[in-house]
Amino acid sequence: MDYTILVVEDEPVQLESLAGFLSKQGYRVVKASHPEQALQSIRNSAVDIVLSDFKMPGMSGVKLLEAIKAINPSIQVIIMTAYGTVESATDAMKLGAVDYITKPIDLYRLQVLIRNIVERKQLISENRLLREQLTDRFSVDGIIAESSAMSQVLNVAGRIADSNASVLITGETGTGKELIARTVHFSGSRHNNPFVAVNCAALPDTLLESELFGHEKGAFTGADRQRKGRFETAEGGTLFIDEVGEIPLSLQVKLLRVLQEKTFERIGSNISLQANARIVAATNRDLEAMIREGSFRQDLFYRLNVVSIRIPPLRERREDIPPLVEGFIRRFASENNKRIAGISREAMDSLMKYSYPGNVRELENIIQQSVVLSRSETIMRNDLPVRLNDGSEISDQVTSGDGAFTEKVEAFEKSLILDALGVSGQVQTRAAELLGISERHLRYKLKKYGMK
Ligand SMILES: Nc1ncnc2c1ncn2[C@@H]1O[C@H](COP(=O)(O)OP(=O)(O)OP(=O)(O)O)[C@@H](O)[C@H]1O
Ligand SMILES: [Mg+2]
Repeated sequence: MDYTILVVEDEPVQLESLAGFLSKQGYRVVKASHPEQALQSIRNSAVDIVLSDFKMPGMSGVKLLEAIKAINPSIQVIIMTAYGTVESATDAMKLGAVDYITKPIDLYRLQVLIRNIVERKQLISENRLLREQLTDRFSVDGIIAESSAMSQVLNVAGRIADSNASVLITGETGTGKELIARTVHFSGSRHNNPFVAVNCAALPDTLLESELFGHEKGAFTGADRQRKGRFETAEGGTLFIDEVGEIPLSLQVKLLRVLQEKTFERIGSNISLQANARIVAATNRDLEAMIREGSFRQDLFYRLNVVSIRIPPLRERREDIPPLVEGFIRRFASENNKRIAGISREAMDSLMKYSYPGNVRELENIIQQSVVLSRSETIMRNDLPVRLNDGSEISDQVTSGDGAFTEKVEAFEKSLILDALGVSGQVQTRAAELLGISERHLRYKLKKYGMK
């Protein structure tokens, strides 16, 4: 284990026995028999945890604690105290000690205490790492928004980033809903707190409830230990409720209550906890139609939709295609160690004409595939998936000029899906991949068009 514990104790036998016990647990141990020596060690080596006696000659435990925190506030200090001085130990906790343990030391308790501190430290550094990666990958600079429709989306996202109002992001699959949700979070005052996502489509109803609210040990069969829900982990940050249209009605009532009252309980507990995460929800479903059908609650919709952001499909903002293509080429060329200078005119023409049922994600997949396949420094029309190269079909249909836009788009979608199913030998997972849409979305389309 890569953790260093400094043991400070003026009683030599006790010092040796604690140090011996902790190094057997796998920690690196540094010993100090008086406070001055302890401070010296802290200045000279990377100490993670200090286990210190409270009453020592030369300097009180409180003074030592203050001195440690002044040198490095991230060091976790545990105070050891004789039974009679518990009160001053709690004073020490007010000054920033993480915990105290009474003498004679119960070694089992000490072991648990230290393990908890180590786990928490690990979690914090993992979170920080993750957050840095996310900020990097999803910084506002990473979003390409040339079209006026998308600049407007970014503009709204920026303006509401600091508020607490719930946000509902709507848009077809792959339009960038999650990216915008992250933008709202990372450009606002909550950016140092967690961004926690829960995908309501990915979980069965029973698990979804415990995922959101957490549960106590024994709350239901299989709940063999207490678990925090996403509302709790998102504390002070943003809870991204993805595919919110998939929440069953029974759970919609519970979610509504949390949004109204700002409190919730873990399943199996009657203790109310504060829900202070900002809610950003997303869906590709038409919630208003679902309200009319009775499958989504209107009151919940109003709660979620305080700010609404609609991301238009890519085919309605074709100005974004060239800069997206350029950005994706750069990214995938570097990821694949390929030198790609650009894209031929014909290839770009095909990309501009295509309808993108899978939106930006589909374009991203197309470019990734082309970069991998490309044998020259320029992406050629032949490097693009076949489905793009009969773009002539579209322009023929458009120039025939008899309106009926929706029918044409649908006919085209159907033919694309048939193609993809043909190529993939009727394997839906692969067909969805080829189309650059989720399997779920493919199933939805199949159902919609009555295709089997
Ligand atoms: N404006 C943009 N600039 C750069 N990349 C984008 C943009 N919009 C979307 N993307 C990329 O497209 C992919 C899909 O985006 P995202 O996952 O946010 O879409 P979504 O709307 O949540 O999709 P789904 O409905 O399928 O969940 C991601 O890899 C994202 O980085
Ligand atoms: Mg998404």
